[in-house]
Amino acid sequence: MIRFEVNSDLSDQETTLKQMMQEHTEMLAEAQAGEEKYKDSQDWLDTDIEAGEEQLLRIERKAQEIRRNADAFVLIGIGGSNNAARAVVEALKPLDGCEIIYAGNTLHPHEVEKMLQKLAGKDFYIDCIAKNFETLEPGAAFRVLRQYMDERYGDQAPERIIATGTPGSTLWQLCQEQGYDFFEFPVNVGGRYTAMTNVGLLPMAVAGVDVRALVKGAHDMQLQLHKEPAETNSAYRYACLRNLFYQNGYRVEMLSSFDPRFHYFYLWWRQLFAESEGKDNKGIFPVTGEFTEELHSIGQFIQDGSPIMFETFLDVVHPEDHVVIKPDSRKDYFDYLNGKDFAEINKAAFHATVKAHSEKLPVMTFTLDELDAYHFGQLFYFFQFACYLSCKLMGVNPFDQPGVEAYKHWMFAALGKL
Ligand code: PA5
Repeated sequence: MIRFEVNSDLSDQETTLKQMMQEHTEMLAEAQAGEEKYKDSQDWLDTDIEAGEEQLLRIERKAQEIRRNADAFVLIGIGGSNNAARAVVEALKPLDGCEIIYAGNTLHPHEVEKMLQKLAGKDFYIDCIAKNFETLEPGAAFRVLRQYMDERYGDQAPERIIATGTPGSTLWQLCQEQGYDFFEFPVNVGGRYTAMTNVGLLPMAVAGVDVRALVKGAHDMQLQLHKEPAETNSAYRYACLRNLFYQNGYRVEMLSSFDPRFHYFYLWWRQLFAESEGKDNKGIFPVTGEFTEELHSIGQFIQDGSPIMFETFLDVVHPEDHVVIKPDSRKDYFDYLNGKDFAEINKAAFHATVKAHSEKLPVMTFTLDELDAYHFGQLFYFFQFACYLSCKLMGVNPFDQPGVEAYKHWMFAALGKL
């Protein structure tokens, strides 16, 4: 369950917001039904299509095999091909799964070298995840790792190689020729919307994440957002609020939290909104705040600088860990902390920050009871659906990304790609 509230006083904008929410109810109904216009990009809307029983069983079987035969699993992929899995795996760090090593998300030689060093002495599998297998980073890393596997495993190497790609792609052809295990990258889902597909779920399952709980969280959110009418639909309300702030001149949204476990989720969220919404000279620039640490760096700007941003907090009610500060006879002037838990202190800092920031900028909060697989599923579905609605309100296509091609033209020319 995720609860949504607006913390700032928006009473002077209530009428405009109400009008906006009433005006676009058909747009919500259209999104809930799935629209013809975007049918090539919308299989993620129904979790049963890409994460049904058949897919989950295959994922679980493969994950068991890998966990039996390996210490590590290399996830080769970039952007939508690795962000969702990384967000969950690095936040939850399950104890009984394989170590996940990330590759194909950088071109820096130091990082490539470090990644190879991590594999020394470990048994491992690799999974190259790439929709059309044209992206440079995973392509280059996959080649390096295949060659490294030949050295380590000889003829047995293909048994430890998996690829997740679209049928008919060059990656698929390579699998056919070399006998690598092939998982389908859904043709009708763009990278950044693939959390609940083979792309996100296989690496999570290998790491020991309860993928059924994650899919259940997403499915419950799907039922909720597809059933709720405009007046009570939280994704629709959030999308309308974002657009209202945008119309009022705010150009930046900061997703903030006092829980550092959201670090890689931030990467996923930034990609989702930047790549979906930032086009046709429009869009809200997504940034993130890792508190309390960044209150001591960018906190000044947020509270007192140019009024360009609104802020959205993620709050987890029950942090899992507790550390109580004990009294100390040495005088350090911190006795007001005696007997207090870090969880309580962190929460006090959160409430104080929401109070201070909401007096300066529009502030909203999403509250989660726990940070577990179920709630990650809820978050993925919620933000994907809200982003889709927000793009529709802004009048941009949520599913394409023409802007990312520009730099590639010059890069490929410099590298001699024909
Ligand atoms: O969301 C998207 O479509 C993109 O960001 C892709 O995920 C990213 O560019 C990686 O693409 P590919 O899977 O083709 O390597």
